[in-house]
Amino acid sequence: MLAELFLDAARGCAGRSPLTQALLIAAAEDLARGGVVARVMAGAECDRPGTVPGLRFAGALHRLVLEGRAPALAAHYPTAGGEPDLDALWGDALPVLHEHADELRVLVSTTAVQTNEPGRSAPLFGGLQTATRLAADAAGRRAGFPVRLLEVGASGGLNLRPHRVAYPVDGVKLGDPGSPFTLDPRWTGRPPVDVAHNLRLVRRAGCDPDPVDVTTEDGRLHLQSFVWADQVARFERLRAALDLAQLDPVPVQRAAGPEWLSEQLVRPERDVLTVVWHSVVWQYTSPADRAMGRAVLADAAARATPMAPLALLVYEPRRTHGPDPYRFQLLLKLWPAGVSLRLGWGAGHGTPFTWDTQPWD
Ligand SMILES: C[S@@+](CC[C@H](N)C(=O)[O-])C[C@H]1O[C@@H](n2cnc3c(N)ncnc32)[C@H](O)[C@@H]1O
Repeated sequence: MLAELFLDAARGCAGRSPLTQALLIAAAEDLARGGVVARVMAGAECDRPGTVPGLRFAGALHRLVLEGRAPALAAHYPTAGGEPDLDALWGDALPVLHEHADELRVLVSTTAVQTNEPGRSAPLFGGLQTATRLAADAAGRRAGFPVRLLEVGASGGLNLRPHRVAYPVDGVKLGDPGSPFTLDPRWTGRPPVDVAHNLRLVRRAGCDPDPVDVTTEDGRLHLQSFVWADQVARFERLRAALDLAQLDPVPVQRAAGPEWLSEQLVRPERDVLTVVWHSVVWQYTSPADRAMGRAVLADAAARATPMAPLALLVYEPRRTHGPDPYRFQLLLKLWPAGVSLRLGWGAGHGTPFTWDTQPWD
């Protein structure tokens, strides 16, 4: 059963991470033989498929590599400066597994797969610019509203500083040109509003039932370990976002979305646009959470006024009727203005992204 789950995870890596795929196939064979991987995975035999035991195994091993504690194996890991030799990979993994089996077992059994993708800050940035402009137009204000950003399912909170990232677009850097984190948004088309003006985020808060504290080395390693080790560009992007987070920490509260949101939205705030944002969270929530989240939002929407507007901005995969079974779409609702738009669609990690504004019903 576990070996099958490892093979499932390996199939998920096909074409995207040859290193992780090769590692998981070899580990599945070792598991089936009752080798050292069975020792590392002891206690996880009945884990639900949704907990992705294979990726927890790969993440635990990656973590040892990133800590500099498995130099022979690190020689195969591009995130540690190595170059994969897929024929020699398992031979170099085995001694590490034997030496650290007990520690790896604890890591695998105590950690959940957790990702936080800072590439999603780019569609968020354009979406916030759009929301603040449209809310200001509806209220008859010349300047865009300052924003209070509330993120549900924030993980490590790496998308809570979209205004502090530098986005090279059309030969200029939007956002914060001096930022240590430059993110090429790879936009086709442009947002429906002028994005050259400053975005002001006056308050930010996030929640997650399983938050990662990126101010600690442990939290940073946790997020880095779940990036596939041959996806260097993505790894570098994560590191830059982690560096930015050190300069501008925003705590993520341990809480489930709906309860937290209802506390945050208790009172409308005047002269501020409140934006509720979530990305790639919906699929992890229960039907009860979704129903309660919708009710909390509907309640707050009913209390929104032109001078205390509310927006919902989401980047989530949605079923389509086109050739792709689903697409990641950026959706915006605005109250009381009555705006409901699909702003565009893009890759799961937020870039590339195509701006294409359509009504959303
Ligand atoms: C794939 S991660 C995405 C993290 C982040 N939003 C991003 O885009 O990088 C999904 C996140 O949803 C969180 N999550 C799962 N169930 C949740 C719930 N009921 N309410 C809020 N967040 C939830 C998980 O803990 C995890 O951090």
